[in-house]
Amino acid sequence: SQSLRLGVAGLGTVGASVVRMVARRAGAIAAATGREVRVTAVSSRDKTRDRGLDLTGVTWFDDPVALASSGEVDCVVELIGGSEGPAKATVEAAIAAGKHVVTANKALLAHHGAALAKAAEAKGVTLAYEASVAGGIPVIKALREGLTGNAVSRVYGIMNGTCNYILTRMEREGLTFKACLKDAQALGYAEADPTFDVEGFDTAHKLAILVSLAFGVEIDAEGVSVEGISAIQPLDLTMAEELGYRIKLLGVAQVAEGGIEQRVHPTMVPKSSAIAQVMGVTNAVTIDADAVGELTLIGPGAGGEATASAVVADIADIAAGVARPTFGRPTASLAPSERVAMQRH
Ligand code: HSE
Repeated sequence: SQSLRLGVAGLGTVGASVVRMVARRAGAIAAATGREVRVTAVSSRDKTRDRGLDLTGVTWFDDPVALASSGEVDCVVELIGGSEGPAKATVEAAIAAGKHVVTANKALLAHHGAALAKAAEAKGVTLAYEASVAGGIPVIKALREGLTGNAVSRVYGIMNGTCNYILTRMEREGLTFKACLKDAQALGYAEADPTFDVEGFDTAHKLAILVSLAFGVEIDAEGVSVEGISAIQPLDLTMAEELGYRIKLLGVAQVAEGGIEQRVHPTMVPKSSAIAQVMGVTNAVTIDADAVGELTLIGPGAGGEATASAVVADIADIAAGVARPTFGRPTASLAPSERVAMQRH
């Protein structure tokens, strides 16, 4: 069969890793999918930066929307980020042009996922987003494919690598919030605007995506109650420690009377609990489901290589012709999301 031609929009930490990984794993991807996969086009704002990539024979676009509509690509990999602007325009243009889309963009999905899924469905193309939640952890696949036989009652966990990295270093080394955030940015973990990380919005976006998949409801990002970690002081961590606790930024969603409860906030967890052992950029997602009971997935939540791993898994599905409804069922059958009043536990 003909090769799957990829257009990679955005060559930041994740984009550069994807280009390298597709080349490095070309043989394995072809063996797994029966189809050759190669990057034929890229776009980025900054043409001069040396990323150490071999882009011989790859077409460069200054405009990602032009890349998305180009006849040279079959699948657009959107790694620009942001819920509006060029990322949204690129994904919309790709779908309109009948191309498959792979994205790591949780903000875009949280705010426009329902409309984009509907558009993809109408065009018969795939909108894949494994990399949007919990970096390298295949949690979308787990919920959408691995747990089809289950009714899910709760999803919760640590879904922002930057925040967990900051809290870990503040606790272990007594460093300030600011210094830790700077390091998280230097390591390529943080969002372009780190407010999204530290104020809890990134976790809220991810939680809203998981809620749609887990409970068969439309995404309702505005329905998540959100509190971040920017007000946490080293003293808070010391005090928690003395009481036998750690502070973690958790996202929690559960079935409640009249709807789904969705919340993000710093939480005191007993030091002996499993979730308290999750340190650094690691994420952990726990799913309570009726058949399997409790299932926890732990792994790297951010970073170029880990996130590229999830992007490449989606690319391989598309190459293999695997197509699932975006949020696990046809968009028309997603129930409207009912908000419920929050209860702190
Ligand atoms: N800024 C995000 C995080 C990247 O720190 O978890 C992965 O989505």
